[in-house]
Order: sequence, then C-alpha cells, then structure tokens
Amino acid sequence: MRHLAIIMDGNGRWAEARGLPRTEGHREGAKSVRRVLECCQRADIDYLTLYAFSVENWKRPKAEVDALMGLLALYLNEEEKNLHEQRVRLRVMGRRTDLSPVLLDRIEAVEKATAGYARQLILCLSYGGRTEIAAAAKAIAAAAKAGTLDPETIDERVLADYLYLPDVPDPDLIIRTSGELRLSNFLLWQAAYSELYVTDTLWPDFGQADFDAALASYAKRDRRFGTHR
Ligand code: FPP
Repeated sequence: MRHLAIIMDGNGRWAEARGLPRTEGHREGAKSVRRVLECCQRADIDYLTLYAFSVENWKRPKAEVDALMGLLALYLNEEEKNLHEQRVRLRVMGRRTDLSPVLLDRIEAVEKATAGYARQLILCLSYGGRTEIAAAAKAIAAAAKAGTLDPETIDERVLADYLYLPDVPDPDLIIRTSGELRLSNFLLWQAAYSELYVTDTLWPDFGQADFDAALASYAKRDRRFGTHR
C-alpha cells in the first residue's frame, strides 16, 4: 500500500467517557498521530494523510477551535526534529488562507525544511472535499477564460491536476475511527476507488494493533477499480 488516509474521530467521546474536557481528547489524539506515523514507517507506507481539521470544524466553540490550533502548533514544534530523523516531508492541504498567519508561517517553514524527503505526512487543515473541487472548478474556469486552457480538453485528468496536491496518488485505504459510517467531506474526488475500513476504536486509543487489523483487512480486499474479476 502506498497511501493511507485516516479520519481521526472520537476524541471528544474519549474525553467525555473520562469526565475530561474535549480538548484533553484532542491532546491524547495528537499522541496517536505520532504512533501512527511510526506504524506507517515500519509498514513502508509512502503517504499518510490525516483529517485534522475540516472546513466545518470552524463552527465548533471558539475555545475548542483555539485548542486544536494550539495543538497543531505544538505538534509542529515538537515533531519537526522527529520528521527530520524519520525523513518525512510535511505537507498541508486545505484552505490555507483560513489559518492564522503565525500558524501558516510555521507550517510553511516546516514544509520547506522537509521538502526533500520522499515519505509524506499530509495534514488536512481547513479541508473540505467539496471546497477543494469547487476551487479546482474556479481555477479551471479562470484558465479557460484567460485562453490558457481549451474547455474541450477538460477531463478527469485535468480536473485532478487542479486539486490541492495533484502529485499525490489516490489513497488505497481510508480508515475511520469511532464507528461512524461516512466520509464527512474527506477526499471526495480521491476516494473514488479507495477501500474503506471502520473501527469502533476511538482515535486516542488507536495503536499498532488497530493499524495491523486495518492493514490485514485491506490485504484481503479484491480491488477491481470498477472492472471485472
Ligand atoms: C474528531 O474528534 C477529531 C478532530 C475534529 C480533530 C483531530 C485532531 C487531532 C487528532 C489532534 C491534533 C492533530 C494533529 C495532527 C497533531 P471529535 O472531536 O469529532 O470526537 P467526537 O466525535 O467523539 O466528538
């Protein structure tokens, strides 16, 4: 498998079950991020994409949004050294202009410093699949209007080229934690032929055993991409 993507869900429930504030669940969830990145290294997976903050997540209470943004900044500070040691390239996909200038500066600095590594950790921040596709449509329309793109040539390949990270292969497997059976606006275009795996494990509890179970399930799948057996 080249590309694993994860919808990290259940931080709030993990915290609530312990009588803790939701932000404690996010803090514990950040530890799972570190664990899973190591699992991916051991499993030789080239791309790990994590749904860290959706365009809809801005509607959460300000205190929770602030806590999540703080955790992301903390993660970048604490993990930068680790990313270099593990030779992992950090990339962010999403509506960057929504992020605070300070956080964006930090992100761009780490992206630049790690740009030479082959293995990638992709964090989806202020990300929405529909937002991404709409932005691509807008850019395509602008190019057509400017005369640099012939509308007759627009096909799936061209549209994919206008998505946030066109060089990244589609995810082979998408894992969702905490039992919910939906994509929640995650990688709508790229997920067309991805295998799905849902576990009841809450994201802060997700570890090597869950990772192994997901990969074992994936290994048994018969991927046909819409063709015959
Ligand atoms: C979903 O749980 C999770 C999120 C909205 C945020 C994910 C963020 C992290 C794991 C921490 C920071 C990330 C990084 C990359 C360091 P939820 O709050 O929707 O849980 P619930 O459904 O149980 O309420």
